[in-house]
Amino acid sequence: MGSFEGYIGVFDSGAGGISVLKALIDELPHERFVFFGDSRYTPYGDKPASWILDRCRHLTQWLLDEGCKAIVIACNTATSVAADTLRSEHPDVPIVGVEPALKPAALAPHHRHILVMATNATVHLDKFHKLAREYGSRSQITAIPCVGLADCIEKGDFEGPELHGLLERLVGEYRGAVDSVVLGCTHYPFVKRQIAEVLGDVPFYDGSAGTARQTRRLLEGGMLAPESQQGGVEFFSSNEGTRQIELYRWFLAQPI
Ligand code: DGL
Repeated sequence: MGSFEGYIGVFDSGAGGISVLKALIDELPHERFVFFGDSRYTPYGDKPASWILDRCRHLTQWLLDEGCKAIVIACNTATSVAADTLRSEHPDVPIVGVEPALKPAALAPHHRHILVMATNATVHLDKFHKLAREYGSRSQITAIPCVGLADCIEKGDFEGPELHGLLERLVGEYRGAVDSVVLGCTHYPFVKRQIAEVLGDVPFYDGSAGTARQTRRLLEGGMLAPESQQGGVEFFSSNEGTRQIELYRWFLAQPI
């Protein structure tokens, strides 16, 4: 028996997944979560799919060995690469992923031009192309591989010139030219305000709330924690030392 029997295991390449964790805590306040940030290996988005898959298998196995009852892949990149494989390898375990929230953006009225910000891996993988084909007839979709952005956010410096300069270079040319923005990487919601400073006042969409609702749906029918249970979070990281865990707690306290 692992030490986290009955917990929900949540993982990401780093601190970004904490944006999903926040939504999970809001949706499921009585659940206990183990969050694993793979910060030592951030970013996933620039690595080969085979490497990402191996890493996701390893982290999923660790969380299951610790006793977790369900897994939330709090990373768009890892979901694109590994969700289907992990589900087929663990058919009895509820496994939830997160994907770019193109559907609500495309279904909203007057969203003719949608900008999708995501990692290099996410925008080049089949899963995203399929999604873009599904909703591309309703709106024009421009997908930007935001190389370097997750790295920059991972450091926790949201106000520095480095972040602002990078956002200008990545999306500055779309200022005033898009109707909405899909944040297709779980790191990005932490800097929504800074992105809006570059792009202007546009609606943002991300997959966190949908992922949290889907987690609830999969656990309904006997797997949800009792309402008498006090929820909580245990943090772990592939980066050793307490500073990384302190940084995760700081991320959890940030407004989104
Ligand atoms: N947070 C991750 C995502 O949602 C990936 C960031 C990275 O490691 O490249 O895609």
